[in-house]
Amino acid sequence: MAILVTGGAGYIGSHTCVELLERGEEVVVLDNFSNSKPEVIENIMKITGKQFKVYNGDILNKEDVLKVFSENDINEVIHFAGLKAVGESMENPLKYYQNNVVGSLILVEVMQQHGCNKIVFSSSATVYGAPEKVPVSEEFPLDPENVYGRTKYMVERILEDLAMADKNFSVALLRYFNPVGAHKSGLIGEDPEGTPNNLMPYIVGVASEKFECLRVFGDDYETRDGTGVRDYLHVVDLADAHLKALDKIRGENGTKIYNLGTGKSVSVLELIKAFEKSNNIKINYVVTSRRPGDIAECWASPKKAKEELGWSADKTVDEMCRDSWNYAKRKIGDK
Ligand code: NAD
Ligand code: UFG
Repeated sequence: MAILVTGGAGYIGSHTCVELLERGEEVVVLDNFSNSKPEVIENIMKITGKQFKVYNGDILNKEDVLKVFSENDINEVIHFAGLKAVGESMENPLKYYQNNVVGSLILVEVMQQHGCNKIVFSSSATVYGAPEKVPVSEEFPLDPENVYGRTKYMVERILEDLAMADKNFSVALLRYFNPVGAHKSGLIGEDPEGTPNNLMPYIVGVASEKFECLRVFGDDYETRDGTGVRDYLHVVDLADAHLKALDKIRGENGTKIYNLGTGKSVSVLELIKAFEKSNNIKINYVVTSRRPGDIAECWASPKKAKEELGWSADKTVDEMCRDSWNYAKRKIGDK
């Protein structure tokens, strides 16, 4: 019996594979490597000392998905495969609806054909849009404001409907806040192509002198220092939540929804300071105008995940900063 990890070579998928393998689970990865590199797979094997099957294939290609299910005894799926750039999703909506929504439909169709009825899905806090208040809990209204977020919202509803219609189905919808950090080995981490959109990879880019200066997008928000406030969580804590969610849906059918964050709020300036202090590196920054579409503050109520999964994200912001930089330094050393 194996767990299919779609997008298992990606940032969050690779860390989750490590945790699964270290717990003794059997893992099969399906990834088209559109946003990851095959060397990640070697590094997962290096960290864990374990081998597993990897399919270079696309969830949009039903034949690829069928092949995985016919050659393995898959009884659970953790579904990470997806595109995640908000800006690109607004410029090219069909690409996002196709990959994220149609791809997920194909995946669950094949699951159904093979009697596989347990899925953990990577959703996002972006499904809440601009929340009316913070911390954000799971029953807050959903109002995604960008195409990427709408693809997450749609897949959530598709899976929920499926679990309503088929009482044997169990679904966990995990709404991630802001994952950062990397595995302590420095062998896997976040490695965006080109100019990063997100704050931590950009800070790392400045630290490694790839970029001269970080632009802080606005210091006139109604927050404690005027800059945007988010809920950053360590990717290894996030990976661990997937194991807890699996345990949950192994025991109960229906749909379960969890916000995954620390419940702690951190501003842009606070994250810069924490990075500087924990790594002893100066980060040059300049304050510019707000980034269109950004919200002032967003952090999770992690209460439900704590109560129902027994999960909490406990790694500190300093660990997140140290581990992000440790991974980047190793990459620089390799070049
Ligand atoms: P990532 O891009 O690093 O990983 C996604 C993986 O899926 C990549 O390896 C990519 O090659 C693969 N993939 C994409 N489309 C595919 C397809 N059609 N067929 C097969 N493989 C495909 O992203 P990540 O940060 O690891 O995110 C994983 C999931 O979590 C995504 O669904 C993302 O939307 C969601 N998520 C991420 C964040 C975040 O900040 N990183 C926040 C919320 C939600
Ligand atoms: N920021 C900067 N400069 C940068 C990048 C970001 O000041 O170069 C600021 C933003 O304005 C924001 C904060 O840093 O205040 C965090 O920005 P990120 O882009 O890192 O994260 P967001 O919360 O804006 O967005 C992330 C993902 C989205 C996802 C959303 C909710 O990028 O895909 O979380 O889950 F939809």
